[in-house]
Amino acid sequence: MGGKEDEMLVFLPKPRRRLRLTSWGLAMDVVLLTLTFSLFALGTFSIINPTQFQNFLSYFHCGSKSSSQNTTLPNLHVGAPQCDVTFDSDRFDCWPEGKGAVQQTCEARGCCWDTNVGQGVPTCFYPRIFNNSYRVASFQEFTHGMEAVLQRSTQSPYPGDVMELKLEVTYETNERLRFKIFDPNNKRYEVPIDLQKGKEMASNPDYKVSLSMEQFAITIRRTSTGDIMFDSSGVSPLIFADQYIQIGTQLATSNVYGLGEHRSSLKLDTDWTKITFWARDQAPILDENLYGSHPFFMNLDGKNNAHGVFLLNSNAMEVDLQPSYGSSALTYRSIGGILDFYVFLGPTPDAVVRQYVNLIGKPFFPPFWSFGFHLCKYGYMSSTEVKKVIDRNRAANIPYDVQWNDIDYMASHLDWTYDNTTYAGLPAIVEDLHQHDQKYVIIVDPGISSVESPGTYPPYDEGVKDDIFVKAHDGSNLQGKVWPGQTVFPDFLNPNATDWWYRQAKRYHDVVPFDGLWTDMNEPSNFVDGSISGCTNSSLDNPPFIPPVIDGSSLFSRTLCPSAQQYVSSHYNVHSLYGFSEARASMGVLNQLKSERSIVISRSTFPSSGRYGGHWLGDNRSGWKDLYYSIPGIINFQMFGIPFVGADICGFGGGTTPELCTRWMQVGAFYPFMRNHDALGQKDQDPGSFDLVTQGYMRSVLQTRYHLLPYLYSLFFRNHIQGTPVVRPLFFQYPGEASEVDKQFLWGTSLLISPVLEEGATFVSAYFPSDVWYDFYNGSRLSTVGESVRLDAPLSKINLHVRGGSVLPTKPASLTTAALRNQSFSLLVALADDGSAEGEVYWDDGKSLDSVEKEKYSSVSFSVAGKILESIVFVDNYDVGSEMQLDGITIFGVGKMPQQVMVNNVAVIPHYDGKNHVLKLSGLSVNLLQPLKVTW
Ligand code: GLC
Repeated sequence: MGGKEDEMLVFLPKPRRRLRLTSWGLAMDVVLLTLTFSLFALGTFSIINPTQFQNFLSYFHCGSKSSSQNTTLPNLHVGAPQCDVTFDSDRFDCWPEGKGAVQQTCEARGCCWDTNVGQGVPTCFYPRIFNNSYRVASFQEFTHGMEAVLQRSTQSPYPGDVMELKLEVTYETNERLRFKIFDPNNKRYEVPIDLQKGKEMASNPDYKVSLSMEQFAITIRRTSTGDIMFDSSGVSPLIFADQYIQIGTQLATSNVYGLGEHRSSLKLDTDWTKITFWARDQAPILDENLYGSHPFFMNLDGKNNAHGVFLLNSNAMEVDLQPSYGSSALTYRSIGGILDFYVFLGPTPDAVVRQYVNLIGKPFFPPFWSFGFHLCKYGYMSSTEVKKVIDRNRAANIPYDVQWNDIDYMASHLDWTYDNTTYAGLPAIVEDLHQHDQKYVIIVDPGISSVESPGTYPPYDEGVKDDIFVKAHDGSNLQGKVWPGQTVFPDFLNPNATDWWYRQAKRYHDVVPFDGLWTDMNEPSNFVDGSISGCTNSSLDNPPFIPPVIDGSSLFSRTLCPSAQQYVSSHYNVHSLYGFSEARASMGVLNQLKSERSIVISRSTFPSSGRYGGHWLGDNRSGWKDLYYSIPGIINFQMFGIPFVGADICGFGGGTTPELCTRWMQVGAFYPFMRNHDALGQKDQDPGSFDLVTQGYMRSVLQTRYHLLPYLYSLFFRNHIQGTPVVRPLFFQYPGEASEVDKQFLWGTSLLISPVLEEGATFVSAYFPSDVWYDFYNGSRLSTVGESVRLDAPLSKINLHVRGGSVLPTKPASLTTAALRNQSFSLLVALADDGSAEGEVYWDDGKSLDSVEKEKYSSVSFSVAGKILESIVFVDNYDVGSEMQLDGITIFGVGKMPQQVMVNNVAVIPHYDGKNHVLKLSGLSVNLLQPLKVTW
């Protein structure tokens, strides 16, 4: 069907229906505007024609249009733009190159020029109506989607315009919609990750899609509320050239989150912010592109419903955020691939995360030991020094599970070697760790030395034989430089690389049986730009448009040439997948080697990486700001489906202080992945290296963490089976409140962590949403909620609060997770105002690969109502008696001393704290796998 000018099509997925709305006149006044919105809110009109809506808002803003103006779009052509875009905020950048625009060149793009603009506002911007884009030439509708052909007749400013595009919209599930814009005539690169889609199709989705015909735009709204989830009308127009793809969307509100990997506050700044995506070895600095690429965002709408948008594209990209029409807008500019969008309906923030994670793949289930405390440093000069560190932390009774080694252990920084002189004692250290129920993790870097004598270094020789290294443009193995000197880079997207990687790991593991892998430098990092012989003049190495990557102008700065060739495509396309592919191969290797659950901690990540490992936030510094930024960083990775994440505790670069390190250990005790790591040349910062008082503070918060590990582990079980985020910002739980709070965070829905993030502070101003909160340590109920509360926070203490309505499983703190496992459970019950509470515990052997899949676990849920606590045993397949015993129950919020307390019909003698209203039962010795009934 040909698109009739200013005709509007509305697609309602179910029941199948097609509406055609002919134009509305713009002869509307404010009264009509109000009426339109009311009707819209009532659902009388399915949708507003986006183009007209835009015109309408312009009209409303400027007040300069005549009320009798006809709706027919003026037949504009390049050179006659409508430049009366009065508000700076409604100006969309027509010259994203930044440099080189003058009035003449700008106008030659059909755009408007105005130098009298505010900070960040483009001087060259799109006119209100920009005809130099695509129109819908034809479309077809199906029960579960639609297709359209989009055509343009004029050239964009970028070479290689794809003049005809195809739009495919698929109503994939009730909560997820996909739309894809691509070249139907020439296959282009698409991201080779394995999305987890079921056979299910949408049956009753709460979304509807509409298209603008003449100036192509797609609008997706939540049917039940009418709120926008994606709306490309009235923003930056669609451009689809070979190396420049642009599309924009209005945002529902400026409460937008995600878009990683970057260092920023949790809520993104929509006041003219540019965010770049291109994996990069870069110590975190504000707003620059860092190690991974995650083109996913979450947006809250005016009714505090949340939705998510994922662009599956791995090319270098920028996203611009700006104010627009009283809210905000977002423009994507990618330099390759296709537009492959997924929209997730939520409507709660955690539902959005679940829906996203269910698509990209649910996170791996870390072994129980990996939730213990990890210790690392770059610059343990010998195995003797490592042993000293281990011994002093043991001697100081620091709960501690995992010792790591950085590149110091290697001979000449060569992967899969250890230095026979300085690290001669390494195998003995690993044996000793294992004897103490502790684990050992090593770093491996992708750069494989290519200049060792032939026959002396199997990783290189075998890699050449297997032909698994990344190729330069001329087909030779691309040569770069990393720690060992001249190196080549395995192409982990090549299926043969996994077997090669396994053989190297196995040979080493036979001598040094490591328990996990730390895959660093995998952006991939290169100490020379591109290769030792530079890059080519091709358009892959020098594309016509480069998003604002750090270091300005080149994509190959500190990495490989984009023209390098990998198994599936050019490095230009797959660069940001390097870390993902290495983690995937490495987790495969570990599973095979250990036949038990293990960990991979990868510096570079991409959507789906969470299936194969965790992440740390890279080379931070020992500064108070760095401590704060770790919180939004950790929350972001929950949204990206990589929940097993931490930051270098006490700071990597620069020297820490006892105070900062104490505060950081306190925050770090609530990172899912808790590792203290330090840079070369810095003073030691492991707990055992500090004075006794500082050690005491650190020990105490570690004990709190270990005590709570059964709760954390149960949260990770939920995360593994459903994608439910583990660490949450307050707005996940209270979307109407606290949309900007990022100095506090929750474990699950029950434990609120309010740390000190400032030097010298002995109190903290913490926000408490309107709910019931109890002090974790003494059970006293907080009297003020719905506002910020000043809490005492001496250096010895991190403030923790339990939400009324929760049941948390715990075990007594121990020096290792192995020791902790053998102890009995306790329950911490915090009553809501109506006396209710609920929670669950998941328990298994902590290590089997198939614990969940083969149901080799036990799981019990708890609920409280009317002074009765009861359990339901869902699965009881893990039944090691000593581990499954329940000894204690602490109940917060018990108004008065009960007359009688019965546990499974046996009277027990409780302890009651009348000041804080806490009831404590101890010495119960009941089996958690038998239904429990406690009455009081
Ligand atoms: C990188 C890593 C850092 C590590 C260092 C030496 O900078 O990010 O954690 O210590 O390399 O291997």
